[in-house]
This record gives sequence, C-alpha cells and structure tokens, in this order.
Amino acid sequence: MIREFQKSDAEAWCNIRKQNLLEVNSKNYPQEIITLLLCQNKPENVLKKIKTRLMLVYEKEKKILGTISLTKDGEIKNLFVKPELQRKGIGKKLLKTIEKSFEGKIFLYASTTAQKFYEKNGYKKEHEEVDEINGKQYKVMFMTKQV
Ligand SMILES: CC(C)(COP(=O)(O)OP(=O)(O)OC[C@H]1O[C@@H](n2cnc3c(N)ncnc32)[C@H](O)[C@@H]1OP(=O)(O)O)[C@@H](O)C(=O)NCCC(=O)NCCS
Repeated sequence: MIREFQKSDAEAWCNIRKQNLLEVNSKNYPQEIITLLLCQNKPENVLKKIKTRLMLVYEKEKKILGTISLTKDGEIKNLFVKPELQRKGIGKKLLKTIEKSFEGKIFLYASTTAQKFYEKNGYKKEHEEVDEINGKQYKVMFMTKQV
C-alpha cells in the first residue's frame, strides 16, 4: 500500500536512505560523499520538510519498504527502495503514484545509480550537473518529464 508519510515514519525513512547509501549508491560515489550524505540523514531533518512537499511511503505488513517525495514546484526527491526488494516494481509504483498528484514538468537530479530507472520511466536527460556538499563535488543528471 502507498500512503502519505506520518511523523512516526521518520526513522524508517532515514533507515532506507542509509541502507541505500551504504549498500547501493556507494558503488557509484566516493566514500567521502556517502559519509557527508549520511551525516544529513536525520529524522529531525526529514520532519522539517513535511510542509514543503508531498511525501509518500510504500508499506507492507507494517514495514516501510520505499519512500518518495515531490516538492511544490515539481521536483522528485528521496526515491529509495529497500535494497533487497529492488527490481520488483516498488520504485515504479511510487513514481507513478506521485506523478498523478502533479500537472506540468516534473524534474529531478538523478544519481548515477538511478539514471537508467528514470529513463525506463519516461524521463529525459537534459544535462549533467555537478552538485556540491560541504565543498565536495559529485555528478548528477538533470532529468525531466511532462505529466
Ligand atoms: C532507483 C530505484 C528507486 C528503483 O526502484 P526499483 O523498485 O528497484 O525499480 P522497479 O523494480 O520499479 O523498476 C522499474 C523499471 O526500471 C528498471 N530498472 C530499475 N532499476 C534499474 C537499473 N539500475 N538499471 C536499469 N533498469 C532499471 C526495471 O527493470 C523496471 O523496468 P520494467 O518496467 O521494464 O520492468 C531503486 O533501485 C533504488 O532505491 N536505488 C538506490 C537509491 C537511488 O539511487 N535512488 C534514487 C535517488 S535519485
């Protein structure tokens, strides 16, 4: 079931992100970037975002298996599926559901890890950008889709 995020989900939300950063995204990004991203990954930071975006979770048997959010201006963020359950359609379901809540051009900054997934789901590469966290740079792909 896909439902809206509740405050009590904040820890599970962070845990899925943490697990992905350590087990999946670490294959494509240097350790120092992963470490900096992990430092920001705190429930209090997630709770600060509630008012600025739509946040959804994929829940099964009371466990949160995936997360996604969409800002008011149409940016997809925080799409993460538990690593052991990836490639089973959960990411696609989360993306399709959140797309339905928006009319216009959706955009996102895809990690190298997720670029092919977004292409399969109709997103077009616009250009590559260099993002920065605490002065450390890393590559992301700016992608868009009209919905
Ligand atoms: C990217 C991610 C959200 C995709 O979720 P998922 O549940 O594994 O993907 P799905 O099973 O819904 O895949 C949907 C389609 O994309 C394809 N796909 C998924 N991951 C892919 C990959 N790494 N390479 C190529 N194709 C991929 C699937 O084959 C599927 O194609 P189909 O519809 O033709 O069968 C998930 O792998 C993830 O959490 N990755 C790590 C975190 C991350 O980088 N998140 C994005 C931050 S920008």
